[in-house]
Amino acid sequence: MKGLLIAVCGLDGSGKSTQIQKLENWFRNQQLPTLLTKQPTDYYRQDLRVREYLDNGQCGSMEALAMLAAADRIWHIKTLIEPSLKGGVSVISDRYLFSSLAYFSARGLDVQYVKQLNNGTLIPDLTVFLDVEPEILLQRISIRDGKTTKFEEREPTMFTKVREAFLNEVLPSNALIIDGTLSEEEIHKIIIGELNLIIKDKIIAT
Ligand SMILES: Nc1ncnc2c1ncn2[C@@H]1O[C@H](COP(=O)(O)OP(=O)(O)OP(=O)(O)O)[C@@H](O)[C@H]1O
Ligand SMILES: [Mg+2]
Repeated sequence: MKGLLIAVCGLDGSGKSTQIQKLENWFRNQQLPTLLTKQPTDYYRQDLRVREYLDNGQCGSMEALAMLAAADRIWHIKTLIEPSLKGGVSVISDRYLFSSLAYFSARGLDVQYVKQLNNGTLIPDLTVFLDVEPEILLQRISIRDGKTTKFEEREPTMFTKVREAFLNEVLPSNALIIDGTLSEEEIHKIIIGELNLIIKDKIIAT
């Protein structure tokens, strides 16, 4: 069987890493090979133009930043994700296309423009969105990190805009939207329940 592509999306502090860790353990217990990865990749994150925006809020062209993010995604999919899936390895991506669409929409770009840049992107077998209200996220981030470091985390309306973009404009119709304030274990169970259904369908179809 080809591997499954699972995208775990949500705002900063919504619990993605926590759930990805549990998911990886689950795959390991089932003796199914997995690859953990993230989008954007470090090539994009470490680009000085990107850092300038994420750290200081300065950006020469938001369109160009969206293009860099799209190019990073195509490269990542072609060189890492697709070969892994073909080799029977399931891929869990910490953020994916939908995160990029939601954040660039909240940064003021037309979402259709950003979708166009990402036309043809591989659609995941399972997209999880961990939904948490911005006030709770900011509390969680400051408890975890001691302070909010990213420029956008200091802009109070940013999280609300990103969340609205996710829910109203960018998530695919089959996304699994989960209340991220449930307990870590309850959320994990919901994800595994859906994953089992998807795996069953795939086995029947092959
Ligand atoms: N279901 C939950 N209920 C309460 N707190 C949680 C839950 N899941 C995670 N947390 C806590 O919230 C904080 C953020 O979680 P985590 O680091 O998994 O989020 P994240 O989405 O990966 O964040 P980032 O986007 O910054 O990488 C952590 O301190 C974690 O322990
Ligand atoms: Mg994380």
